[in-house]
Amino acid sequence: VSLHSLNSFGINARAHRFVRIENLAQLQALRTQILADTLLGSLPRFVLGGGSNVILSDRLPHLVIQMAIMGREMVCETDENYIIRSGAGENWHAFVLWTLTQGYGGLENLSLIPGTVGASPIQNIGAYGLEMQDYFYSLTAFDFVSGELKTFLKQDCAFGYRDSIFKSGEQDRYVIIDVSFALPKQWQPRLSYGDVAKFLHDRDIATPAPIDVSNAIIAIRQSKLPDPAVIGNAGSFFKNPIVPAELRNQLLQQYPDCVSYPQTNGDFKLAAGWLIDQCGWKGHSGETVGVYEKQALVLINLGGATGAAVRALAQEIQADVFKKFSVNLEVEPVFV
Ligand code: EPU
Repeated sequence: VSLHSLNSFGINARAHRFVRIENLAQLQALRTQILADTLLGSLPRFVLGGGSNVILSDRLPHLVIQMAIMGREMVCETDENYIIRSGAGENWHAFVLWTLTQGYGGLENLSLIPGTVGASPIQNIGAYGLEMQDYFYSLTAFDFVSGELKTFLKQDCAFGYRDSIFKSGEQDRYVIIDVSFALPKQWQPRLSYGDVAKFLHDRDIATPAPIDVSNAIIAIRQSKLPDPAVIGNAGSFFKNPIVPAELRNQLLQQYPDCVSYPQTNGDFKLAAGWLIDQCGWKGHSGETVGVYEKQALVLINLGGATGAAVRALAQEIQADVFKKFSVNLEVEPVFV
């Protein structure tokens, strides 16, 4: 089965086996089939959401499970929160817009992030001063080992910067089927990000509603990031590296305009986009893979890119950044 249209980088990958799951009964039936069929059971499993944070190899020996469980609802409310649940297969941005039109603010800073709701906890998506974990309440996962459903609360997920237990450890065992958020009744805009505040100020919006913030984020993202429907990409390709203060101060002496943000523990987060840009990679065109002209942190498919070609360019960039700045860049999307 070709996965070409199911991954945002547009890699023409083929899966050994493929199944689309639209409800829990289908997932249970799949498990029964896996237990009965040793060949199927021996295949590594890979769950595909929106395919927007993965770099696929050309031939996947996997059983690829496309998660397409839909549905969204307000489950209950507490004194402080609305608890909103969404099926894992819902499109993330459509879900965010739906919460806003229903009158539940909170997720607006995460507008226009590609992918599905079920994928959002895996790497704890974040942008413009908000991380998904800030409003995450719980998720339900299907356990392929026991065949039962398991609820994960926030403390069970080990959320970190672009990370969770579902990214680093247990990805073969659990399939996320729904995610719940606790959205605040006392909503406050999060405007720590300069671009967002400026956008609203320029339009004389002094007391923004959630939808105003969403519109600002959409405009900013569209101005900086390529639309995966037009140019294949997987968003930020590297994490922003966190380095000790000594290294950051050293760099600042040599490069006075080096961009960095203080962390609570005294370390500093550097802007990977700035580091890559300084090495001259911005706008680079290789044979099939390039670096986006408006944002050096984004690798793009110039047509016919393979997973191997993407990996090769990523390694060249990592080597250059290390040579110039002694900083290791960690890849952000998942290579499969
Ligand atoms: N910069 C450059 N050159 C570049 C790109 C950036 O000098 O080519 C500088 C910018 O001038 C800015 C700084 O680097 O001072 C940071 O850039 P930006 O504000 O665009 O954000 P980012 O750090 O590159 C992160 C997230 C994005 C998220 C934005 C907004 C990571 C790895 N990336 O990017 O997330 O949308 O902040 O919050 O944390 C994603 O994960 O796929 C993603 C797009």
